[in-house]
Order: sequence, then structure tokens, then C-alpha cells
Amino acid sequence: MISRLAATLVALVVVAESAVGRAALVKVGGPPGWVPNTNYTDWASHQQFHVGDWLNFVFDKYQYDVLEVNKTVYETCNSEAGFITNVTRGGRDVFQLTQPRTYYFLCSRGFCWGGMKVAISVQEPPPPVPAPAKSTATSSARPSLLLTVAALSFFSNPFFSM
Ligand SMILES: *[C@@H]1O[C@H](CO)[C@@H](O)[C@H](O)[C@H]1NC(C)=O
Ligand SMILES: *[C@@H]1O[C@H](CO)[C@@H](O)[C@H](O)[C@H]1NC(C)=O
Ligand SMILES: *[C@@H]1O[C@H](CO)[C@@H](O)[C@H](O)[C@H]1NC(C)=O
Repeated sequence: MISRLAATLVALVVVAESAVGRAALVKVGGPPGWVPNTNYTDWASHQQFHVGDWLNFVFDKYQYDVLEVNKTVYETCNSEAGFITNVTRGGRDVFQLTQPRTYYFLCSRGFCWGGMKVAISVQEPPPPVPAPAKSTATSSARPSLLLTVAALSFFSNPFFSM
């Protein structure tokens, strides 16, 4: 069992390694996380998102959820009409921004009406900085992000949730 879990983690790290690059992991909403009565439009206006970045939704899975929706559903809060991706897993859920476009997320169960929704405008990744032959700064920063993403994916897996 333990070795299977370890293998899952290693696989996740490898997947993250190939996809993340210089990506950031951004906790949606800042310290309070994904909660009602937060102006996420205001929050997002102070952030920059690039292709490859990860969103981290932190919330009480018994009360809230996270659905990726299209612009129409985002504006009307009518998630009953349908959604694109159900991001909800264990309440520590990650979502990678893979395209340079605007992504829309909301909480269903009525909370969208109170503003629990966010539009994330994603830009192309910044042009790569020529890496020195031996980079200590970036190589020390990256593994911790990769491990964080891997661990979050792992603990959000519904098959292992407590
Ligand atoms: C949220 O913040 C945005 C940008 O600061 C502002 O335009 C908007 O009126 C705010 N919405 C609410 C409901 O306060
Ligand atoms: C948005 O999604 C809803 C629900 O799936 C769908 O009915 C609607 O046609 C979509 N709108 C656009 C502009 O894609
Ligand atoms: C989204 O996924 C969660 C966890 O798998 C599930 O409990 C929930 O019912 C799903 N929500 C929708 C709208 O399908």
C-alpha cells in the first residue's frame, strides 16, 4: 500500500515536472481561500496569471465546491445549466491554467449569487530568461512547488480522502 502511494506521488511529481516549468501555485483569494463574502474580482485584479500556473482552491468541501464554467454561466450564476470541469475533490484542489484565455469558476449551491466566483485572465508565459549554466536560485525554488502541487493533488484524490 505504502509503495503504491509513493509511486503515485512520484508519478505526480514527474507529471508536474514536465508541465510546470517556471509556473506559480496561487491560492485563490489569498489567505482566507475560497469563501463567501469575498470580492474575487478585486483580488484577481491584483494578480497576474500565466500559462502553466496552478490555482489552489482551499475550502470546506462539505459546504462549498468549485466548478469551471463558461462566461455566460459565470455571469448568470446558473450552474444548473452545466459546467465545464468539476474542480471539487478534497477541498485542497489544484487546477492548471493551460491556455492563454479567461477561465471562469464559481461555487454552486447558491453561493455564486453572493459573489463566490472568479474570472482568471491568463497570459502567455513570460519569455524565458536565459539560464546560467549552474542556477542555484531556480533549482532550489522549483522542487518545493512541484512537491506542493503533487501533495495537493494526492491529498485531493477522492479515493484517499479521509
Ligand atoms: C469588487 O471589486 C471590483 C474591483 O475593485 C469593483 O469594481 C466591484 O464593484 C466590487 N464588487 C462588489 C460587489 O463590491
Ligand atoms: C455555456 O454553458 C452552458 C451550459 O453548459 C450552455 O448551455 C451554453 O450554451 C454555453 N454558452 C456558450 C456561449 O458557450
Ligand atoms: C463535483 O465533485 C464532487 C466530488 O467528486 C461531488 O461531490 C459533487 O457532487 C460534484 N458536483 C457536481 C455539480 O457534479
